[in-house]
Order: sequence, then structure tokens, then C-alpha cells
Amino acid sequence: MLNQGLKGVVAAETYISHIDGEKGQLIYRGYEAKHLTKSNTFEEVAYLLWYGYLPTAHELENLKNELIRNRHLTTTMKSIMDHLPQNMDVMSVIRTVISAEGTTDYQWKPSIAQSIRLTALIPTIIAYWYNKINGKIANEPDDAYGHVENYLYMLNGTKPTKAQVDGLETYMILTMEHGMNASTFSARVTASTESDLVSSITAAIGTMKGPLHGGAPSGVIQLLEEVATHDNAEKVIRNKLNNGEKLMGFGHRVYKTHDPRAIALRETLLQSKGSDSWLDLAIHVEDVAVKVLNELKPGRSLYTNVEFYAAAIMKSINLDPQLFTPTFTASRVVGWTAHVLEQADNNTIYRPQSVYIGEMVEAGER
Ligand code: ACO
Repeated sequence: MLNQGLKGVVAAETYISHIDGEKGQLIYRGYEAKHLTKSNTFEEVAYLLWYGYLPTAHELENLKNELIRNRHLTTTMKSIMDHLPQNMDVMSVIRTVISAEGTTDYQWKPSIAQSIRLTALIPTIIAYWYNKINGKIANEPDDAYGHVENYLYMLNGTKPTKAQVDGLETYMILTMEHGMNASTFSARVTASTESDLVSSITAAIGTMKGPLHGGAPSGVIQLLEEVATHDNAEKVIRNKLNNGEKLMGFGHRVYKTHDPRAIALRETLLQSKGSDSWLDLAIHVEDVAVKVLNELKPGRSLYTNVEFYAAAIMKSINLDPQLFTPTFTASRVVGWTAHVLEQADNNTIYRPQSVYIGEMVEAGER
């Protein structure tokens, strides 16, 4: 039987995360992700996903030291970026620089040490490139700062506020892992051939780049900018749907109720910002869109997904829209690497089948 887009197909057993699409729950190694955002840091949740349990103080210290040690770019990486065309998009830059990490150090089997290194490098790559194309030099990482704080510090050249770090850390924890999504599947498929971790992560970055996966938040900003005022919302939304367009930031393959990550991000935004014209507009657009989607697409259970409020978080910390998907990548690399490690521990090569629907040419007709 053909399952278009592998809908409903179970491709792996996993200990890493569980999504209950009906209840709207996302679980990381037994913990609800939205609860982890309240009392745990990026580093602690990354540790949980890689090792299977939350770290002791000593284990956390070791992880932080490993991240510090691996955060600096090599001269080769800087030189590669210095030679890339200025108009290359940021996701392609990350893919290229990470790909250049693929030395013999990364031969099969993948390890947690390699996973830490790739996770440590991605924010520094983004900050170096983003500053370079804006005619600036990125700050070197500061060992006193945590992973998320360092990212904003290297990017903007100034120490971020606590509210900015909290908002982004919530987002990065909530998007670290999400079961067998397209990019994670890519990573696992590549790993299943006993290829190296760098190749798996390079494949995942390429998959993440597409607008139907990691590229949605920029589309959400466009939607909100187009709507601009509360009064316009219904007209813009109806026009888009009547033209057969999809509303960016709505719908999900697995969640058939509210995406718990969207709810957690909305809560964080309401707590940190209170009333804010951009957030008010986003909440209004959500209300109108869900009502209109329910009317024009009955029975499809379409609600906001994580990308809708991710766009609002990114906007609130003044992150350039071209950095939305790269920032998503900087968090999801943890989930990708955890999955590659799991795949390597119990590997079977992925090899589905296809059904030939072309014509047969009889012998003699050629
Ligand atoms: N706007 C309008 N209609 C939609 C939307 C949407 N955002 N999403 C789904 N639908 C409709 C489809 O048109 C389809 O209608 P039909 O039955 O009349 O043909 C029906 O709902 C089912 O849609 P599918 O695309 O088949 O659902 P699928 O599970 O394959 O797609 C996806 C999920 C890709 C996320 C889709 O909802 C979408 O394209 N959303 C917009 C892009 C987006 O926000 N992506 C971010 C996803 S979250 C993430 O990657 C982290």
C-alpha cells in the first residue's frame, strides 16, 4: 500500500521523545517539554536528550566545558566563509561549513562528543557569517555565558537582556526535538548507511531549509505584516485560502489539536511582554484564522504550530528573519544527533519501496 509522504508509517522505535497529537503533548525522555522550559537550561535538556537523564551538577559542568572548548571556529572554517558568495543564504552556509567538518575524526560510529562539537559550532557559524555580511566582526564566544546567551552575544555584539535569553531559550528547548520529522528522518536515513555524523547532519540541514519545514516563521512574519491591522485579518486570510494558499504557521502532520509548543511560547511571550501590539496582532490573527480554517477546511483540525509563535519570539528579540530557520537549526541539531546515536545503536538500513506507474515498452517497439 502506498502512503503518500509516509503518512502514518512508523519508521523507528525511539526512547528520545513522544508526541501525543490528540492530547497535544510533547515528551522528552519521559518529561513534558513545556515543563522542562520552566526550570531547565538548554544545556541540561541537551544532556537529557543525549544521555537519557538530567545531569548532576558535575556532569552539567563537564558538558558546559565541552561546549566552551568546541565553540570556537577553526581558521579553515573562517576562511571557507570568507570565500563564500555574499548572497548565499544562511542555511546553505551552515550546511557548507558543517560539511567541511567531515574529516576522518568523524568515522562510524557517531559519538556524544561529536554531537556536542556540532551543537557548539552552529551558533558561532551563524554569528560569524551574519556579522560578516553586515560588514562587522562577530564577538568571540564568552566562556562566562551559557549556550543561548552566547549566541545572542556573538550575534549582536552586546550582552542580551534576561528576557531575551529566556524567550529564546524557551524556544530552543521546545524545538530541540520532535520525533520523526522530515529533517530527523533524513539524518537517520543517512546514518542507516553507516555514513558519518557530519553527513547525517548535513543532510538534515538541507531538509530543514525547505519552507514546509523550518522555513515557516519568515512566512508568518510576512502574513502578519500583510494583515497589519486587526480589521484586515479576516479579508487577508480568506483571500489567501480562496487562492489555494496555505497559511504559514498553521497545521501540523501530527498535532490534530493545539501544538503544545505554540501554547508554551505564547505563555512565555504574554508573561515577558504583557501587552504588545505585535503580540496582540498575532493572537488576533490566530483567532480569526482558526475560525476561518474551520469554516473553509472543516474536519482538518488546523491550529497554530510552533512556527507561528516562534515568529513572535524572534520578532520580540529583534532577530533578523533570515536567522529564523538557522536558529531553529541551532536547537534541532540536538535532536538530530540524539537520533543518529540511537540509529547507530540498533541499525537497519532504510530501504522502502516504490511502485512503478509508468508504461511498459514491449520488445520490438523500441
Ligand atoms: N493553511 C491552509 N490549509 C492547510 C494548512 C495551512 N497552513 N495546512 C494544511 N491545510 C489543509 C490542506 O490544504 C489540506 O486540505 P485538503 O484536504 O482540502 O487538500 C489539509 O489541510 C491537509 O493538509 P496536508 O498538507 O495534507 O497536511 P500535512 O500533514 O501533509 O501537512 C504541514 C502538514 C506541511 C505542516 C501543512 O500543515 C503546512 O504546509 N502548513 C504550513 C507550513 C508550516 O506552517 N510549516 C511549519 C510546520 S511545523 C515544523 O516544521 C516545525
